[in-house]
Amino acid sequence: MSMVDDIKKKAQSKLMTIVLPEGDEPRTVQAAKIIKDEGLAKPVLLGNKEAVLNQAKETGTDITGIEIIDPLTSNKAKEYAGQLYELRKAKGVTEEDAAKLVQDVMYYGIMMVKTGDADGLVSGAVHTTGDMLRPALQIIKTKPGIKVVSSSFLMDCPNKNLGHNGLLVYADCVVMPNPTADELAEIGISAADTAKRLCGIDEPKVAFLSFSTKGSAKHELVTKVQQAVAKAHELAPDLCLDGEMQFDAALVPEIGASKAKGSPVAGHANVLIFPDLQAGNIGYKITQRIGGAECFAVLQGLAKPCNDLSRGCSVDDIVNTVAFTAVQAQ
Ligand code: ACO
Repeated sequence: MSMVDDIKKKAQSKLMTIVLPEGDEPRTVQAAKIIKDEGLAKPVLLGNKEAVLNQAKETGTDITGIEIIDPLTSNKAKEYAGQLYELRKAKGVTEEDAAKLVQDVMYYGIMMVKTGDADGLVSGAVHTTGDMLRPALQIIKTKPGIKVVSSSFLMDCPNKNLGHNGLLVYADCVVMPNPTADELAEIGISAADTAKRLCGIDEPKVAFLSFSTKGSAKHELVTKVQQAVAKAHELAPDLCLDGEMQFDAALVPEIGASKAKGSPVAGHANVLIFPDLQAGNIGYKITQRIGGAECFAVLQGLAKPCNDLSRGCSVDDIVNTVAFTAVQAQ
């Protein structure tokens, strides 16, 4: 069974409510119908009701039974504005600001998740990563004990000898442009948790990547990764992790054995932690475009799940991301 089929099966086992703020966007409308029909989640579409219904008509999609909420006319808007004001007044948000913000589909959707009216949110077919991430970071905040929100890319590679039957988890490829050593340590721990919960990788082997393996090069960038490894050991003593190491040392058993002798991770890593966002973002795209891997991004560390799409996403991408989000919410 593929990773996506497995996730869909899990999503169907307990129905979660997932809000789609881009309700008047054609791919989102079509995805909502599939999500409902396959029982992956209860989708809620946000937007002007007429605009949503028009999209449904134009795409030939029957969305009977799918809830549509217009933030401009919703009777919950006042309550959400009050709560948003309380949450953000210390940051200078006034009551007027809050009332205006909840008219925005993204803030309205985030408030639905915050208050428990929805279990998770998926957007990004129209909005940028930052458009969704900023309100999520400001309002939903991190899980208890976690300081940093980051992301994992779940890479399903054609070469099934790699990682866990071809599955590799890459982090962080979306959120933290230049994490400190402590933040990088936390990204590694969160990615291992994502590997367990979403990929069925019971024993994550976490490699902290660098252009150096075990001190082969000396540079402040290498030192940061070494410090992250030390911190991660301190924070998660039972987690199988190691570094710093090069990409090939992490994945190829012979190279791992020669460059990082005795490492419990080298040559067999299934979770790869990139030193910064440039490396991570470029790395996942190389694996996808040249390596032919299928990939799915999830955010990790938020108190409740919100996930981002690429603006070039397909209807299936939206359906799959909703399934991942529903499983995170379970
Ligand atoms: N974890 C937890 N909290 C965070 C994080 C984080 N990683 N980053 C910011 N915050 C908090 C801040 O503490 C702040 O909280 P507060 O307002 O309560 O004090 C709040 O979030 C907003 O912080 P800002 O500094 O105002 O937000 P910023 O402008 O830095 O934006 C963002 C944060 C959007 C995540 C930014 O770091 C960013 O743009 N990252 C890159 C996103 C991106 O473009 N990714 C690549 C493309 S995606 C792709 O290719 C798939």
